[in-house]
Amino acid sequence: MTNHKFDRHRRLRRSPVMRSFVRETKVQVNDLVYPLFVVEGEKMKKEVPSMPGVYQISLDYLDEEIDELQDLGIPSILLFGIPKEKDDVGSGAYDPNGIVQQAIRQIKQKTDDLLVIADTCLCEYTDHGHCGVIHNHDVDNDQSLPLHVQTAITQAEAGADIIAPSNMMDGFVTEIRQGLDEAGYKEIPIMSYAVKYASAFYGPFRDAADSSPQFGDRKTYQMDPANRLEALREAATDVEEGADFLIVKPALSYMDVIREVRNAHHVPVVAYNVSGEYSMVKAASQNGWIDEKEVVLEKITAMKRSGADIVITYFAKDVAKWLKENDQ
Ligand code: PBG
Repeated sequence: MTNHKFDRHRRLRRSPVMRSFVRETKVQVNDLVYPLFVVEGEKMKKEVPSMPGVYQISLDYLDEEIDELQDLGIPSILLFGIPKEKDDVGSGAYDPNGIVQQAIRQIKQKTDDLLVIADTCLCEYTDHGHCGVIHNHDVDNDQSLPLHVQTAITQAEAGADIIAPSNMMDGFVTEIRQGLDEAGYKEIPIMSYAVKYASAFYGPFRDAADSSPQFGDRKTYQMDPANRLEALREAATDVEEGADFLIVKPALSYMDVIREVRNAHHVPVVAYNVSGEYSMVKAASQNGWIDEKEVVLEKITAMKRSGADIVITYFAKDVAKWLKENDQ
């Protein structure tokens, strides 16, 4: 008779090959999206002070950036634009010759193998820094929608493969879907920032994109970090309205939400590993307090284990390099 008093979990951890054999979650370069900030102007490559290793680049540096991403095998890029001029209605966002539209055309002339995702929002283009037009000291939902639709259409016209609206207006998926369809872009998917919290972790991004609200905050349109059921309502609405992908943002403090969205829906789920999450790791690793490679690979793996299929991360290039190293 065998003496079977306890389970021997360590049997499956005995060697690297055994551990890799039973590993449930694997990060692949195909899962990654690299966010990129393109700025109007010439000969500009400016490091974002709060995000070491992240740059605002002008279009003359774009080709070399695309070459680097393709050499690393990164399949996708998420574009943010920083215009020269801002106004109260964010005209630069839907200018057919705006900075993002130009960047998309330039990339598409160069290659067809990189998925170009366009962030669809007004906050980088408005002088007040909000994601829509202001009426009575708040962002007016229904007046802002047509501007987001126009932004999406000009991005699709320029050649964007995916439209990613991050403005958190109600009804944006319905309106953008209809606008794209009527303009002849039925086949262009919408990657909705469905679950976007009003998070302090966006701080460094607002440096990078020069998009801090000049008064108030975003709490009347972005979500309360305390809410879980509201996230499920947001996701359900967007799926019903026609979203092809659902983004949960930020990622690290919201893994429970990623899991629930994954369980409730059957479209690809995207985790946005945001700027503050990047900067914290950078700062700690620059101080020698943590091992950057190990920490980053652990957290990207955790996002996938939580249910994300795709991860948007400023670490995409590093992850691609580390995955290659680990393969060798
Ligand atoms: C635009 C937008 C933001 C981010 C992505 N799209 C900023 C915001 O809502 O303030 C944040 C990304 C990051 O922090 O990395 N609305």
